[in-house]
Parts: sequence; C-alpha cells; structure tokens
Amino acid sequence: MANLFARKTMDVLLAEAREEGAHTLQRSLGPFALTSLGVGAVIGAGIFVLAGIGAHNAGPALILSYVLSGLGCVFAGLCYAEFAAMIPLAGSAYTYAYATLGEIFAWIIGWDLTLEYAMGASTVSGGWSNHFIEFLNIFGIKFPLWLAYDHWTGLRTATDQVARAMLHAQHPELIAGTKAFSDALEALKLAAPAALTEQAHTLLNAPHLFGMEIGFNLPAFIIALIITAILVVGIQESAKFNAGIVVMKVAVVLFVIGLGSHYISHSNWGGDWHTFAPMGVGGIGTAAGLIFFSYIGFDAVSTTAQEAKNPQRDLPIGIILSLIICTVLYIGVAAVLTGMVYWPDINIEAPVVSAFLSHNLAWAANIITIGALAGLTSVMLVMLLGQSRVLYAMAKDGLLPNKFFGSIHPKFRTPWKATILAGVLAAIVGSVTPIDDIGKMVNIGTLLAFVIVCIAIMVLRKTDPDRERPFRAPLVWPIPVVPVLGVLFNGYMMYKLGIWNWVRLIGWLVIGMVVYFTYSRKNSRVQLGLPDPEPVDHL
Ligand code: ALA
Repeated sequence: MANLFARKTMDVLLAEAREEGAHTLQRSLGPFALTSLGVGAVIGAGIFVLAGIGAHNAGPALILSYVLSGLGCVFAGLCYAEFAAMIPLAGSAYTYAYATLGEIFAWIIGWDLTLEYAMGASTVSGGWSNHFIEFLNIFGIKFPLWLAYDHWTGLRTATDQVARAMLHAQHPELIAGTKAFSDALEALKLAAPAALTEQAHTLLNAPHLFGMEIGFNLPAFIIALIITAILVVGIQESAKFNAGIVVMKVAVVLFVIGLGSHYISHSNWGGDWHTFAPMGVGGIGTAAGLIFFSYIGFDAVSTTAQEAKNPQRDLPIGIILSLIICTVLYIGVAAVLTGMVYWPDINIEAPVVSAFLSHNLAWAANIITIGALAGLTSVMLVMLLGQSRVLYAMAKDGLLPNKFFGSIHPKFRTPWKATILAGVLAAIVGSVTPIDDIGKMVNIGTLLAFVIVCIAIMVLRKTDPDRERPFRAPLVWPIPVVPVLGVLFNGYMMYKLGIWNWVRLIGWLVIGMVVYFTYSRKNSRVQLGLPDPEPVDHL
C-alpha cells in the first residue's frame, strides 16, 4: 500500500534546486525583474473588472475589503517568501507541500493550482474581452452582443441596456451615475421583468443551437489562444514583453488615482458607518472574498525560482515588494472609484472605465481601456506560464503523464503540450462561462492553497527547525501569529464565498482524487523510489 503522506526529502529538493548546466533553466532574473513579474501578474481584472461586483457587495467600504484581502495575502505572502527562499523550485506551493505535508497534500495543491492559474486566465480573458469591446467602441464599432459575452452575461447586459434606454426615454432629467437614476433603474427592473427580458432577447438577437440561445465570448476565446501561441514560441520574448507592460500598467493605475481624485464627491462615500458600509461587516467580507482575485499572482513569482539569479535573497523581495506596491495602489483605486460614482451605479463589466465615462472623460477612459487591455494581457501570460510550470513539475514527479506534460519542444524549449492544453482549456471556459462565477472558483482554489502554505510553514518549523532559512517570516515560532492569522483571514474569505463555491471546490477536488488514485499514486516516482526522469525532448 502506497504511503499517501510520503515526502520528497529536503536534501533531494535542494539538490534539484542546485542543478546547473545546459539542460536547466537559465538564471537571469534579478530583484527588479522578479518584482515586475509579481506586479505584472497581479494588477489586472481584479481591479479593472471585479471592483464593480465588490462595490455592489460592500458599498464604499470596498476600500476596507481591499485592506482585509491585502492583509490575508501579506500573511500568506510572508510564508511563501520563507518557502521560496528555502526551496527555490518551479513547483511552488505544490513542491512545498510535497516536502512538508506529504504527497496527497502536494497533489491536492497541484490540482487546486489549476483553479488558480488556468481558470484565472479564463477569468481575465473575460475581462480582456469587455475592455476590447470598449476599445472598439472608441472607433464606433459595435460588436454583436451574443458574440461578446457568454449566454448569461449577454442576457444580463442586454436587459440592462434595454432598461437604461427605457428610463432615459421616460425620465430624461435623470442623470446616470446618481442615486436617483440608480433607484429608478432598480424600480423599473422590478416592475416589468417579463417585458424587459423579452426585449432583451430581441436585442441579443442570438442564433439558436438545439433550441438554445447561443452566447460565445469570441474575443476571450481568441486572446487566450494568441497568448498560448506566444508562450509556446518563446519565454524570453514573453518576459521582456511583460516588463514593458508593467511600467505602462502602473502608470495607468497612477493616472486613474491622480485624475480620478479630482472627481470625487464625498457624499458618495456616505456620511456615517451605515451609508459607508450599507451591507455591514458581512458585506465587507463578501466583497473581500470576491476581490481577493485582485491580489492573485504574487505567488507566481515563486514559480520562476529556477530562473532567478539569487533566489534566496531576491524571491522574498519580489513577493513582498510586489504585494505592498499593489495593496497601496488598490486602496487608492477603490477610494477613487467609490468616490466618483454612487456605488449602486458602479458598472459591473468595466467599472473603472465607466466611472470616467460617466464624468464625460472619454479621452481618459480611452487611455485606461488601452492600459487595462495591455495589463490584462500580461496577467494571462503569467497565469498560463505558471500553470504549465506546475504541470511540468508534477509530471517530473510522475503524478501526471511525463510524456505529455513533461514534453519540451526541441526548438522552442518550452513545455508546449502542457501549455497548449492549459491554454485551450482556459479559452473554452472563458468563452462560455460568466466571469464572476469563474472568478469565485479561482478565489476559493487559491485561498485553499494559501491556507495550506500557512499550515505547512508551521509544520516545517517544527519538523525541521535547524534547516537553513535564508528568509524567515516574522512571528512564526514559538507563537505562530503570522501563519495563524493567514489561516484565519484566508479561511474567513473562503467561508464568505458561500456554499456553492464550496460545492464546486469539493467537486473539483473529488475529480482530482479520482485521477490521483487511478493514475498518480501508481506512477509516483517517490512511491516507486525512482530518481527524476531524463528530460522529454520529442514532438
Ligand atoms: N490578480 C490578477 C488580476 O486581477 C489575477 O487579474
């Protein structure tokens, strides 16, 4: 009977991390590149898109949701930094779990990271598509609604458009973005839902397949495939492309904060706690769970461990610095957004761009649209990159078929089959599923990984206290303040994501268990006592 808790020993892992030579990845990343990679992976759909849904759940207290979520990430980030410096290998959390908690936990985390990386890329492709459609609008090009959204989002968008047009015709004096407008819009939607839905179907004008109305997010599908192709062809080009985009992305976020702050109306923040946090502490927690997505990606820095020049010093810098920069920027954007637009009227698909449009700042909205488009592209790139690395690491350990997932393209030197599989999966899911549903699954999956990493750090301090730790997270031993707070904050956000996301997460893990018990356990190189395989170099 195989041992479910078999571990990869630290000595084996450290030997892998020290490998040098032509068959290993090239070490070229310094602290600046690593921090840029973190910021590149982090700033994206979460702030440009999901801030809208967050505001509808927390009201102006969305600002506190960003603080809460950011704190959960800082606690987990410190634990990641300790691990990344100690075990600088591409498998990231998957490898840390293999070294501390045993194979079954490593498998769970590796399987779960698919939710973070591949499904994260799907979510971002939906956000990319929304901004692409806004971009086409700049040139007066209208994209058919049924080809711009999945079925459910298309219907919701069409209903909203019909209701707004109706309200505008009935009450031209009401101005969009004000409380009076949003109250009237809500009342209209409640008064005649059937008539609105009927008109929405007409506006959608979608063809039918097997009697079902089709909705297919074509831009999301295509961008996921383009990014996949870039990743297959060249990693160095991708890294340079990312660095350029990061500068542009941060500049656009600073632009949003700088210009937006001139258009804040303090009354939008509410005059007291009840108007500032209309849904109370519970609403702040719910929104924190939703916008947690905004912070995802700093952990992807650790998947580049084998490409860092001095991983033991620079990985902690990259992880922690990128988190701090993003937290500060996010709090600024949340304050500006909820100050510019009364919260119920904050747009759900493209909230930041719409906020500037509602103040007749079309030129600024255009700049933000282009910045967001570029920014979202780099997030997808790093997410799909991280996904292929984790699959590759799992294949090397025998937990996935090495011939497929471990296959390196002879010319491009990339794990091309793993990349294509992840990219096609992300493209399909992103084009037919509502972005908020996938986003929530990504969140719960990543939160689980963070909770496990926070637990694992305590385990390793106990089981291997004398191991050299180039970076030590503060307040871990003997009183484990940081990891326990990490478990509590991230666990609370998991709880706030609600029963359906737990059901989906458990369903996903059950599928993972079936794969583990039918394939991985029998082929695990640790269980079989085998060394690492030779590189797979064929087409
Ligand atoms: N944090 C990344 C984003 O918000 C995943 O797009």
